Amino acid sequence: MNILIISYLITSVTFILGLKMLSNPATARKGNLIAAAGMVIAILATIFLYEEEGVKLGNYGWIFGGLIIGSVVGTLAAKKVKMTAMPQMVSLFNGMGGACAALISIVEFDHLVHNYNPDDFTFFSSLDGTTLLIILAGLIIGTVSFAGSMIAWGKLDGRVKDFSFKGQQVFNILMLVVLIGLTAFILIARPEETILFFYVILALSIIYGIFFVMPIGGADMPVVISLLNSFTGVAAACGGFLYDNKAMLTGGILVGAAGTLLTILMCKAMNRSLTNVLIGNFGGSSAASGGAKAQGTYKEISLSDTAVLLSYSNRVYIVPGYGLAVAQAQHACHELEKLLAEKGVEVKYAIHPVAGRMPGHMNVLLAEADVSYDLLKEMEEANDEFNSTDAVLILGANDVVNPAAKTDPTSPIYGMPILDVELAKNVIVNKRSMKPGYAGIENELFFRPKTSMLFGDAKKVIQDLIGEVKNL
Ligand code: TAP
Repeated sequence: MNILIISYLITSVTFILGLKMLSNPATARKGNLIAAAGMVIAILATIFLYEEEGVKLGNYGWIFGGLIIGSVVGTLAAKKVKMTAMPQMVSLFNGMGGACAALISIVEFDHLVHNYNPDDFTFFSSLDGTTLLIILAGLIIGTVSFAGSMIAWGKLDGRVKDFSFKGQQVFNILMLVVLIGLTAFILIARPEETILFFYVILALSIIYGIFFVMPIGGADMPVVISLLNSFTGVAAACGGFLYDNKAMLTGGILVGAAGTLLTILMCKAMNRSLTNVLIGNFGGSSAASGGAKAQGTYKEISLSDTAVLLSYSNRVYIVPGYGLAVAQAQHACHELEKLLAEKGVEVKYAIHPVAGRMPGHMNVLLAEADVSYDLLKEMEEANDEFNSTDAVLILGANDVVNPAAKTDPTSPIYGMPILDVELAKNVIVNKRSMKPGYAGIENELFFRPKTSMLFGDAKKVIQDLIGEVKNL
């Protein structure tokens, strides 16, 4: 019985279980821990059980040194990171995965050409084609993912500005053609300069990764990160092929598939094609200005009137959005929800799939404040219940409740499914001004008869509202 293979099998099962559990907020934490435990099993099994021709890995000082440094840095970074900086962190970690996959290719290429003898003209043609192909694929995909993720991190962190030049898309396509052409040339012609070309491919992959992400609007980064994530998965799977390591192969394929699915789902939820995200400038610093300008006047509501309305409602839906995360108002929000529930009001949260700036942003934010998972309702369920809802309280959300998505075919968000808050009897919108959200477009909802604006920073407004509700 091969214990190493069984360990890899256990690891693969934990990855699949963990991924499945991540799909529900109630089990996500456990799922993450189960998959992490599986990863520990795979690492320890490889270190202590793997052997080639009777020789174990060795190099324990280096291996454990790296493991300890990586674990300490990773733990500290994860503990310190703010909820709003999560996309940056995901990007950074994803970039590290891409770099690892590329390094595997570099090391394995070095092994492959270790005995290179310039006098042996058949040297390169005698190399195994499949191995060479996988090494090159891992190198290109891993490097593009690393370079792209670093730029994505810089953009989300405000360190790198969007940058594009005329004809950049053509330039990018040309670079990709050169990369693929060079790879095919190495594989077919096996030239004497194979080693030189290998490093040229490495350099070109870095440049391509940078130019691929550079023109994409900063706010579109979550979609791009998810795409780069799938690249890293595929690159890691290449490593799994090279080492005939089943756990690495399964892990890589799962990440690759999950990343691709997430990319597609995010694009669908925003009603945009991937091409539009990759080459359109929507969401960039020059955010779209399309869509009809909303006309008319809006009305404001006072804190005390809001408190009365909410307290005497039977059912209230809270719609959290990006602004709630910016204001870090999740704890105050939970307090308000508990207070209203004590008064006999049924309070629920309507969660739009792309509210905020990353997948599951609102779920994570509200989980941080210990909001019960049962109160979080997905868009479809909430939409079914709005017509029997007395008041909807929108906290820092904008695009996800914009009726233009249904009514204005010229709007950049036309076709995006939205929360039909207007079906409720009253709509209260909290934001700081009349400024647009991510899509850069006006929101007619704010001017509709049922809607009242409650201006101010979400945290301050909710805290004041709590005071008013308590005084009733
Ligand atoms: P947005 O449409 O971006 O609107 C957020 C609103 O919050 C803004 O209009 C802003 O108005 C307000 N706000 C900001 N800071 C605030 C504060 N401190 N207190 C109160 N309000 C504040 O957000 P959304 O409705 O959540 O929609 C998300 C958007 O991001 C969608 O267009 C979606 O397509 C896009 N997107 C999402 C994702 C994922 S995966 N979630 C990924 C990429 C893009 P003021 O400035 O007037 O306060």
